[in-house]
Amino acid sequence: MAESLDTLLGELEAIRSAFSTEVGTLREAQAIEQIRVKYLGRNGKVAHYFKKMSTLAPAERPALGDSLNKLKSEFQERLVHLQVALRSNGKQGSHMFDLTLPGTAPEIGYRNPLLQVLDEIKEIFGNMGFVVKTGPLVENEYYNFQALNFPDDHPSRDLQDTFHLNGGLLLRTHTSPVQIRTMETQKPPIRIIAPGRCFRKDTPDATHSPEFHQVEGLAVNEGISLSHLKGTLIAFAHKLFGKETKVRFRPSYFPFTEPSAEMDVYFDERLGWLEILGAGMVHPNVLSGVGIDPEKYTGFAFGMGIERIAMLKYQIGDIRHFYDNDIRFLKQF
Ligand code: PHE
Repeated sequence: MAESLDTLLGELEAIRSAFSTEVGTLREAQAIEQIRVKYLGRNGKVAHYFKKMSTLAPAERPALGDSLNKLKSEFQERLVHLQVALRSNGKQGSHMFDLTLPGTAPEIGYRNPLLQVLDEIKEIFGNMGFVVKTGPLVENEYYNFQALNFPDDHPSRDLQDTFHLNGGLLLRTHTSPVQIRTMETQKPPIRIIAPGRCFRKDTPDATHSPEFHQVEGLAVNEGISLSHLKGTLIAFAHKLFGKETKVRFRPSYFPFTEPSAEMDVYFDERLGWLEILGAGMVHPNVLSGVGIDPEKYTGFAFGMGIERIAMLKYQIGDIRHFYDNDIRFLKQF
């Protein structure tokens, strides 16, 4: 059946607008291929009209051919654009995924070594019956100093050393205030560790940071002696650094413990003995200050810097690495 050129060209217009409608509602990449086959495939609409060329008079054929070629390249171009558009839409929540694209694997985070060491410390003391307590980072003079038997003119109360806020508040310089807060609300037997952040006015360098972490320990009961303190801390050092680790105690001074000591751990010939914590028997003034009878009860306390322990355990040379959040550092532990 012979058809007129005008009819055919009219039909091509209808095909163009049908294509346009279909493409306009497309949301998924898979559907692009179906449309491509339908319009541009070997048995598709465009091919169908190419076959009709022979039904036209030779003089009319080029007009149809031109129109078909234009339609074909128009369709091809639309589909390519659509493919690109759907691909980038995919990121905004459409279902579009190109499973053949090589992915960019998201880098998984790592636990900060400080938290890893803290987990170990908690585990070791947890097995010895110490429960975890926390306290506020913003403290007042009473809990940070006075109740801990610091004399009024103690140098660490100085503006130079402590971050003072308005209203007699300050950022705690150690975790020892948690000792006081615990003993105020809890009667012996007491066995707690108190991890957390502390602050001192230090200029940051390889071994100082104005913000750092400590773990406090406190045990109060009848009959607690210095040998309990030593036994507990030696067991701790052996668990954390290895069974063969040598430790020693040196006499020291803290206002809230009497006697006081520092514990050193022997690392190797290069590092030698290194201090890892301060400790002592809870000062009678501290006990009576919170209403615990020092004639009946005794206790020991200790405090360690988590950064220092982590630096020794993992041989980290600069304290600032802990806070940089650089994944190249964090992934090593
Ligand atoms: N709070 C002391 C410090 O920050 C450490 C310590 C805690 C010492 C408990 C003895 C007992 O240096």
